Amino acid sequence: MILVTGGAGFIGANFVLDWLRTSDEPVVNLDALTYAGNLENLASLKGDSRHVFVQGDICDRKLVDRLFAEHLPRAIVHFAAESHVDRSIHGPGDFVRTNVNGTFTLLEAARGHWMTLEGEAKAGFRFHHVSTDEVYGSLGPNDPAFTETKTYEPNSPYSASKAASDHLVRAWHHTYGLPVTTSNCSNNYGPYHFPEKLIPLMIANALAGKPLPVYGDGMQIRDWLFVTDHCSAIRAILAQGTPGEVYNVGGWNEKPNIEIVNTLCALLDELKPDPAGSYRRLITYVTDRPGHDRRYAIDARKIERELGWRPAETFDTGIRKTVEWYLANQDWVAHVQSGAYRDWVETNYAAR
Ligand code: NAD
Ligand code: DAU
Repeated sequence: MILVTGGAGFIGANFVLDWLRTSDEPVVNLDALTYAGNLENLASLKGDSRHVFVQGDICDRKLVDRLFAEHLPRAIVHFAAESHVDRSIHGPGDFVRTNVNGTFTLLEAARGHWMTLEGEAKAGFRFHHVSTDEVYGSLGPNDPAFTETKTYEPNSPYSASKAASDHLVRAWHHTYGLPVTTSNCSNNYGPYHFPEKLIPLMIANALAGKPLPVYGDGMQIRDWLFVTDHCSAIRAILAQGTPGEVYNVGGWNEKPNIEIVNTLCALLDELKPDPAGSYRRLITYVTDRPGHDRRYAIDARKIERELGWRPAETFDTGIRKTVEWYLANQDWVAHVQSGAYRDWVETNYAAR
């Protein structure tokens, strides 16, 4: 079986669902269920003995040791993190704790377990670390896309904490020989995306007739990948990746934020027209994010060349599926918009 951390969050839940759709290998899913973790994402696995959910903290060494000893996973896929840049600006402490100390705890527990293995089990063991393109910093308009050898230049507390975790993973391979792989992926979108992030926030606000808050001039560029394509990339790395290697994952879909917001408005105008007029009327420019990175772009040629991975979705097909999913799952959105979520919206947007 495999051990997944953060499997009740956006990408982790998509990964667990996809994994069990395409394989019968059981998953132990360790997740603390922070505001971002939601068991409703995994509701379709109710009663499925291939999925063992454990509520707990990746910083809890005793618990992680127990899970390794009890389940003897052949691999760990590490998603658990604090993931929202705006939250890292308001409260960086949780990001250092989970992203840095949590990754350290998992590495040490994995190393302890790996040392007890022998032969094929030892050689075949994998620690896959899920990271982000944000560790590479911000690109100018004509800079080449990030390759795996790009210098690290993290600019936000979130990306600095992810960069620190990437360095720990690298060091545990170099020093101890732990068979690690790392993926640095661009912006994901798709089902179960928490509505604090750009795409689901814009859909939720538009449907509620609320302003669509575009930071700064809206010309910041992100490189978008449909979430199940990220999951298939991780499966490919787990199956065929080389220990110690880093793989950049991206969809070759660079788009300015304002174009994303306009596309969402056009899709909603088509699929759920508002008698009050186009959703575009709700677009509102607000104060920029402090230290806002201007452009990210991923050069995904290494994973394409070495592992034969390709995204299955184009941006047009993926974004339509996403809007359709949110329209069909308004209950899911209503459930995650809890009291705690409303407090966050108040904190983040009040000063803008
Ligand atoms: P998310 O915020 O939606 O989910 C994070 C999950 O981790 C939640 O289920 C949460 O409960 C859990 N978690 C948080 N702290 C924990 C702790 N201390 N112990 C155990 N569980 C804990 O995040 P996401 O968007 O799904 O991102 C998953 C991973 O992918 C992260 O490592 C992130 O850095 C990386 N990533 C995300 C994107 C993106 O666009 N969302 C892109 C590239 C990489
Ligand atoms: O690049 C990968 C990263 O993508 C991941 O590592 C992070 O976990 C993930 O959250 C995401 O980070 P971003 O900061 O790029 O995502 P977010 O959805 O928060 O913002 C996308 C862009 O939209 C960014 O330029 C900020 C802008 N934005 C965001 C929000 C929430 C707005 O203009 N208005 C908003 O209200």
